[in-house]
Amino acid sequence: MNNESRLIADFAAAGQGHVFAFWDQLDANARQRLLADASEIDLQELEQLCAIHLDDSHSATLDLQGLEPAPYIVHPDHGGDVELWKRAYLLGDEALRNGKVAAFTVAGGQGTRLGFDAPKGTYPTSPILRKSLFQIFAEKILSASRRYGVPFHWFILTSHVNNADTVAFFEEHNFFGLSRDVVHFFVQGRMPAVTDQGKIILAAKDEIAMTPDGHGGSLRAMLRSGAVDIMRKAGIEMVSYFQVDNPLPNFFDPAFIGFHVMHASDMSSKMIPKRSPDEKIGVFCHQKGKLKVIEYSDLPEALATETDESGNIRFISGSIALHVVSREFIARVGGGEADYALPFHRADKKVPTIDIQGNPVKPEKPNGVKFEMFVFDALPYAKHPVVMEFHRKDEFSPIKNPEGLDSPAACSRDQVCQWTRWAIAAGVPLQADEAGWPGFTWEVSPLFADSQAAFDAAWNALSEKPEIKEGTVLR
Ligand code: UTP
Repeated sequence: MNNESRLIADFAAAGQGHVFAFWDQLDANARQRLLADASEIDLQELEQLCAIHLDDSHSATLDLQGLEPAPYIVHPDHGGDVELWKRAYLLGDEALRNGKVAAFTVAGGQGTRLGFDAPKGTYPTSPILRKSLFQIFAEKILSASRRYGVPFHWFILTSHVNNADTVAFFEEHNFFGLSRDVVHFFVQGRMPAVTDQGKIILAAKDEIAMTPDGHGGSLRAMLRSGAVDIMRKAGIEMVSYFQVDNPLPNFFDPAFIGFHVMHASDMSSKMIPKRSPDEKIGVFCHQKGKLKVIEYSDLPEALATETDESGNIRFISGSIALHVVSREFIARVGGGEADYALPFHRADKKVPTIDIQGNPVKPEKPNGVKFEMFVFDALPYAKHPVVMEFHRKDEFSPIKNPEGLDSPAACSRDQVCQWTRWAIAAGVPLQADEAGWPGFTWEVSPLFADSQAAFDAAWNALSEKPEIKEGTVLR
């Protein structure tokens, strides 16, 4: 039996023979396309996933026994130890100066809620110059590289769907001034979508409905793509992980990196206090001596609303997908060794498909089950994981929805408020209302300043200080 026949026979034996239902109608190219999709699928893994997720509901299998709020390092503004934070800052500064840190963006998502028909990282985001998310990150990296005298590397996770467009966007913009040698794109893995009966869904006669395997897939993609080897060769010991849709954070944050180093941690996380019990972000918890994130949809209301004796929410520690992850930990988790395998989660989605004649069907309601891994599921495997408190206004303004909460308009406002805070703290005569809004739009390029400290230095170095008003851009 040749490889092709063996693959088809394996699918039939696994009860997935319908994948090749249109085989006789396909030309040679179409057959190759279908075989390529099919050969990506681990039938045994899929069968196990279907057994776990299609029989019982996900929440029924989730163990919430003994769940406690996770401890965290308190920010100095809320009574945290100032000296400790200073020590952490210096340690992080040293790691950065020695080139031990790289940036890591997960940009493989489909951005369905935003409904933007291109990779999300290409979305015009800065308020005046309309810089894309990718440009903002690139300039932050460039800025840090100049400050530390180190060519920081940048790993970017893409998907089969958006990799070519993402790379083309960087080419078109000449990599935003970064050296091509330090920008590494790598494509995440895929999983087939299945029906609630566990049958693989066809997207076309010659195509399986394959979907990205979630941001948790980034760790195995790092290993499989050779990104971990690149890190080893370049002496990079950790990555600062962030999502493509959140332009606010300083991902080369010395204090954050410093605490990771100080604790010899495998994986560290920034947290912000939740706004309200029903805020839709995951919560850092402790269970049986392990740190984990429980998704908002999985945290029972009784726990989410529980308060301490002062009336504060107990499960307060919101996860905002900012982590520092050590290289060798990525290698272990990405290698999927038994003790480190990330679980898959189930998501019910509308999956475009075909009917038995092969005509396209656009489902009106969810018809398929997707399997995704989440990066925070690596936390229970991490040695000495640390959670640190930071300020929401400096860390978290993701673009998820076209309007309202987590929209481009809200993000634009949050960027302006961040720059306004930096300016006021640097002594610029600016007024802002209670929410921090100055009443007009202006912009600071990351090449001018990417943090409070950088703003102080850059502003003080200006021989002529411009008036900051509607439309001002500091470059
Ligand atoms: P989200 O879960 O918010 O998904 O991803 P999304 O693709 O941005 O938006 P929706 O849910 O389809 O509207 C959070 C981050 O994880 C990345 C996304 O690119 C985003 O930065 N991600 C998500 C991946 O890299 N791969 C995935 O498979 C899923």
